[in-house]
Amino acid sequence: MLTELGVPSLGAFAEPAPSAAGQEVVEVVAAGINHLDLAKAAGTFYTGPPPLPSVPGSDGVGRRADGSRVYFDAPVAPFGSLAERTLVAAETMLPIPDAVGDEAAAVAGNAGIAAMTALDRARLSAGERVLVLGATGSVGRIAGQAAIAMGAGRVVAAGRDRTRLEALAARTGCAVAPLGEAAPMAAELEAAADGPVDVIVDPVWGEPALAAMGAAAQRARLVQLGQRAGATIELPAALLRSRRLELIGVSGALESHADRAAAYAGLMELIAAGKVTVDFERVPLDAVEDAWRRQVAGAVGTKLVVTP
Ligand SMILES: NC(=O)c1ccc[n+]([C@@H]2O[C@H](COP(=O)([O-])OP(=O)(O)OC[C@H]3O[C@@H](n4cnc5c(N)ncnc54)[C@H](OP(=O)(O)O)[C@@H]3O)[C@@H](O)[C@H]2O)c1
Repeated sequence: MLTELGVPSLGAFAEPAPSAAGQEVVEVVAAGINHLDLAKAAGTFYTGPPPLPSVPGSDGVGRRADGSRVYFDAPVAPFGSLAERTLVAAETMLPIPDAVGDEAAAVAGNAGIAAMTALDRARLSAGERVLVLGATGSVGRIAGQAAIAMGAGRVVAAGRDRTRLEALAARTGCAVAPLGEAAPMAAELEAAADGPVDVIVDPVWGEPALAAMGAAAQRARLVQLGQRAGATIELPAALLRSRRLELIGVSGALESHADRAAAYAGLMELIAAGKVTVDFERVPLDAVEDAWRRQVAGAVGTKLVVTP
């Protein structure tokens, strides 16, 4: 639980109990540790700091009293998903097909909804070239596979970890653009894509995003999701105009429930059909503090999923 802004610790918290009509206590079976959770707990997320004390964790998979599993991403504060039980408004719950495991259904939440929403907002058409930055991350891996499943012409996975990129390429058939330590070059990205790119999925911003814009086709769409490579860039106006580039911001936390539900349902279908696979490391609830610190340090490499 979180008693001050920063890193949560394991502790006893009040039992969740409904305080309004439509609320239900669910047994948490899997919950991801998201970058969003780190930012919220640090008090730096743009929706504001969490109440204190509170239980962190913004989404997860829960089991209802009737035994059915649901995905939830709006636990009722001060209760969160990194717990054995939490409180959820029934109207915000989303169904999970039997073919999708607990952990996969959790990874498909925060990261998956962002990836699917990005492709939807980008209005991806069959045959278009897609460049996925941060492609080795949870959002990027899902976005790349989903783009292939949706009929993208060529999907380029860009990232710094060549080993993980090559494993991704072997598994998904995407092309790769290793980014190295120096600032990435637009020409390298364009060459990897076999031409200028129509859609850029961007969970990193910073220099890679700037280079990606340089590799953009006319009327390309860049969907901005996160800032792992930098919070700000110096953006030449001519770069936008010369490509008539469209910049689109997506925040899962602010998208409507209906849009999140559609994104999640679409991804459930792709996972159930074996067209998207997700990676994760299972973490027991009593090891959550150590896992959280590893995530803060960036020493993870896959999605951490807490299984109470
Ligand atoms: N807008 C939304 O709704 C939404 C939803 C979910 C996540 N996000 C955001 O999206 C971002 C990625 O989330 P995630 O869950 O995919 O994280 P993740 O699994 O930790 O992956 C992070 C990715 O960013 C890359 N990266 C990290 N530092 C970098 C740098 N300095 N330069 C270039 N690439 C770098 C990593 O590549 P390497 O292999 O090269 O390290 C990795 O591919 C986060 O900022 C997160 O907050 C947004």
